[in-house]
Amino acid sequence: MAPWPFLRIAAHRGSGTMAPENTLEGFRTGLRYGFKAMETDAMLAKDGVPVLMHDEKFGRTILDDDRSVPELTSLEVRTLDAGRWFAPQYAGVPPAGFEQAVRWCRANDVWLNIEIKPAAGAELETGRVVGRLTAELYADLVREGGDRQERINPKAPLFSSFKPDALRGALETAPDIPRGFLVDKIPDNWRELLAELRCVALHCNHKRITPEFVREVKDLGYWVFCYTVNDPKRVEELFRWGVDGLCTDRLDLVRPYA
Ligand code: G3P
Ligand code: MG
Repeated sequence: MAPWPFLRIAAHRGSGTMAPENTLEGFRTGLRYGFKAMETDAMLAKDGVPVLMHDEKFGRTILDDDRSVPELTSLEVRTLDAGRWFAPQYAGVPPAGFEQAVRWCRANDVWLNIEIKPAAGAELETGRVVGRLTAELYADLVREGGDRQERINPKAPLFSSFKPDALRGALETAPDIPRGFLVDKIPDNWRELLAELRCVALHCNHKRITPEFVREVKDLGYWVFCYTVNDPKRVEELFRWGVDGLCTDRLDLVRPYA
């Protein structure tokens, strides 16, 4: 199989535990720590425009608010305070818009693992929209047939999702952008789903895998990406097992390297 073409260590949600997640302020922090690869979560707002948000319902990163992402337009979401929960000095920092974040990443030469994070019931549509928009924003970098490992541009993004329908939607609108299927507990049908969704990688919770499992996935021709690895010794161990890439929250402990 082709070698993993991307940077190997990504900052989870842009900034890990160093700054408010999924905000441009957080992305800037990730970059200051030396991370030129980031994982982020894309969800559709009420107007069908994606924003960067991990949780469908507010309350954790948007304090004192019991609404949810699909109830607000993208512009409304982008006026919320996604910083105060993290620390007082970040009060007023807004969630990033998807297009805004992609443009920032491209301007700063930051690679993206775009996790398609649909609100309940919007799986296919979120995949389609994020796929279409991403294909437009990376049109100059995405090669025809790029979902085949040997055709992938290392600067093009990698989609991932826990939701097969989200990946189906992305496959429809952005077939040339590579896909990884995200799992926590490994489902019995992971082989069938990787094949059906024409994925290049399996994205796993590192606590759920063994060296034998990594070998099996790789013997089938898929890369292995792990989340969320916060101990540098564990990072080394996973790479020894043959894991290709991973994301981390501990930008202060896990050093990024190509
Ligand atoms: O993409 C890896 C990781 O982000 C998956 O979990 O819940 O942090 O989006 P979560
Ligand atoms: Mg994520």
